Amino acid sequence: MKVEAPRTLVHYWKFLVAGLVEQGQTGALIPSQRFLVKRMISPVPRDYSGVIVELGAGTGSLTTRLAARCPNARIMACEINPELARLLEQDLAARNLNSRVHVIADAAEEYLARLGPSSQRPGFVISGIPLGTLPGDVVTRLVAAIREALPPGGMYIQFQHSLIDRKRVMEAFSSVRTVPVLLNVPPAFVYYAQK
Ligand SMILES: C[S@@+](CC[C@H](N)C(=O)[O-])C[C@H]1O[C@@H](n2cnc3c(N)ncnc32)[C@H](O)[C@@H]1O
Repeated sequence: MKVEAPRTLVHYWKFLVAGLVEQGQTGALIPSQRFLVKRMISPVPRDYSGVIVELGAGTGSLTTRLAARCPNARIMACEINPELARLLEQDLAARNLNSRVHVIADAAEEYLARLGPSSQRPGFVISGIPLGTLPGDVVTRLVAAIREALPPGGMYIQFQHSLIDRKRVMEAFSSVRTVPVLLNVPPAFVYYAQK
């Protein structure tokens, strides 16, 4: 009889490998834990029924909790690492979430560039992309593309393990609130930004 490893162990293992092999791109060795995830998704109303874009979904530690919190929302989960994207897709299918959570196995920049004027704009863009490991001009362009994608009143939520790139977010958004989350390994900061 084939014994499958619990899904979370596989997730932790694949994430660790990604964190070691693609250090700069992954920006962590373990997925975000529940205190950080809770902080990240708390501004999204439970009855929100629009589109939510998640950038850098990894193995889906935030994605699945967001889907549970917002059963009426359509979630677009973008992940650049094809192996992590595939794992997330399989996990969503196993949880019967794949009709309302869609995995985009691509770079956030590419995905955001494809969002045309006729696309339904996301009320929330939630990102775990490690901005601190990217060149400054790439961060500036990415943050500008996120701003562009949001409608007035929309919110950009980003976590980081340092405050290095907060200035770039503050340059693009008129309001940025920063909340530390010490109960995460490693501790993190969450930015809540609005135009
Ligand atoms: C710090 S991990 C966060 C993963 C997950 N959201 C979590 O909180 O556990 C960052 C993730 O962003 C992905 N990533 C990095 N650059 C990206 C990009 N340009 N577009 C999409 N995903 C990206 C990485 O592959 C990695 O899975």
